Amino acid sequence: MIVEPKVREFICTTAHPVGCQENVNRQISYIKSKSFPEGPKKALIIGASTGYGLASRICAAFGCHAATIGIMFEKPSNGKRTATPGWYNTAAFEKAAAADGLYAKSINGDAFSLDVKEKAIDLIRRDLGQVDLVIYSLAAPRRTTADGTTYASSLKTTNSVFTEKSLDLKNNEISQKSVQPCTPEELEGTIKVMGGEDWMDWIRALSSAGVLAKDAITISYSYIGPELTYPIYFDGTIGQAKRHLTKTAKEISDTFPDVKAYISVNKALVTQASSAIPIVPLYFAILYKVMKEQGTHEGCIEQIARLFCDKLLRDEIPFDSEGRIRMDDYELQESVQTKVMEIWEQISSENVTTLSDIDGYWEDFYHMFGFHFDNVDYTQDVDIEISIPSLAE
Ligand code: NAI
Repeated sequence: MIVEPKVREFICTTAHPVGCQENVNRQISYIKSKSFPEGPKKALIIGASTGYGLASRICAAFGCHAATIGIMFEKPSNGKRTATPGWYNTAAFEKAAAADGLYAKSINGDAFSLDVKEKAIDLIRRDLGQVDLVIYSLAAPRRTTADGTTYASSLKTTNSVFTEKSLDLKNNEISQKSVQPCTPEELEGTIKVMGGEDWMDWIRALSSAGVLAKDAITISYSYIGPELTYPIYFDGTIGQAKRHLTKTAKEISDTFPDVKAYISVNKALVTQASSAIPIVPLYFAILYKVMKEQGTHEGCIEQIARLFCDKLLRDEIPFDSEGRIRMDDYELQESVQTKVMEIWEQISSENVTTLSDIDGYWEDFYHMFGFHFDNVDYTQDVDIEISIPSLAE
């Protein structure tokens, strides 16, 4: 099949298998070009197929030479429709890991479920004995808890209507967008889905099964961002869920003295999860422009490589006053934020292409789905039914 991008606002409904492989291979090459300190040897990555979780799996495997088990919720191809990008990414990851003699197995299913937790525990027990690193990098729209209740996550404010400039992803025009305040149920739902409850469930399950190594590290990712986006992010429903996640890190460390739980506050980057947040994509496009000009721009792989090499695997991890690791240090530099705000004031549909890095935004967007790589021939027929080796066993 010849696969072309089919973009609908913030999502692309097709993915290119060869392009996704290229995306993964580029990240692997970047990691192989760096020298990593001694690190984890057996890692479980929950949410391992795209974005920050995929970058984390690549760092663990190709930076630290760790065996990895990756958990994801992706769709294979049905012969007519392509698979989701995370499916192709995982197939490419496992192929590259096998070529380097690295253990890599994946579980495709709902990480919130007991069934997937049990499958992961069985696999760890059978193949690895224990894991010394657990990365919790889920970004999900909903979660069904053990009692059968389904909670939905929403991206709303927690108090009043918030109106700001926004990039219309259909036509690249700037318009005003209003975000409504949440209901109490929506706030509760977001905390249930994106807060720390399931992270705690995972650590409890792994610990009581005896598959967590002594002094195992577990880490989850958060975001703060600039005051401009506080109403929709930091003070919004998602920010409340992230506060819960941060609180959970402390609860995990207190409950399981042999486990070290950390929060890393990461940089804003285009991923499938973040493209869906209103108002934020315009901030991203301006941020990319400013950080590229100042030479501090990083993608997911550069962020996580720096997290591993400069923070997490150091003898003394640098924490902020609230005990978090800050990978958003470059994003929140005064020189960056002052410039971003200056541009924010001036930006309009007429000047958006010059004042922001809208091309960079879209390039990252297309790359996520395996498109727009200059060394991939998109006119060629490709096999869309790619299998993930460990799932085909
Ligand atoms: P993403 O959408 O690229 O990745 C989400 C991952 O979760 C995928 O591997 C997907 O398969 C998996 N997943 C989703 N639902 C699942 C389920 N029910 N069961 C199993 N796997 C499931 O998202 P991204 O952006 O990498 O987000 C990961 C974490 O990083 C999130 O906690 C997010 O809030 C955080 N973060 C993201 C930032 C950004 O700008 N993208 C900035 C800072 C933190």
